[in-house]
Amino acid sequence: MFDFTFDWFKELETGDELIDQQHKEFFRIGRNIEQLIVRKCIGVQEQELLDIVCELREYVSYHFYSEESIMRQQGYSGYVHHVKEHLKFKKYVMEIDCPALAKNPYKELKAIKVMIQSWVFSHMMGEDVKMAKEIQHKVK
Ligand SMILES: [Fe+2]
Repeated sequence: MFDFTFDWFKELETGDELIDQQHKEFFRIGRNIEQLIVRKCIGVQEQELLDIVCELREYVSYHFYSEESIMRQQGYSGYVHHVKEHLKFKKYVMEIDCPALAKNPYKELKAIKVMIQSWVFSHMMGEDVKMAKEIQHKVK
């Protein structure tokens, strides 16, 4: 797999200011994970790892809530499917095994990064962009 770094790119822009701003926040968390991987987690403190998991859990909670509110308000046609994808990713994030992460941070963080990366390409670039386009079209 190519070496993905969390640099924002224009194909991710949904055109919705709030969603884009929150997606950039997700990239910031991604970059923190990336930095730990680059240093092979040498000298990483358990607290740093817990902070990252906490940030990810908080993020999926408020960000998915935001998007789902927007979709409901606008009567988005793909709501059910979109929420299903959110639930799957949220479940993954909520079930990150913190003791396993503390025991083997490098291996576990690399696995988390792969999940985030596939979320970026499958959901954010696909579903989120599609949803925002339909909503913007309705608002016009
Ligand atoms: Fe979404």
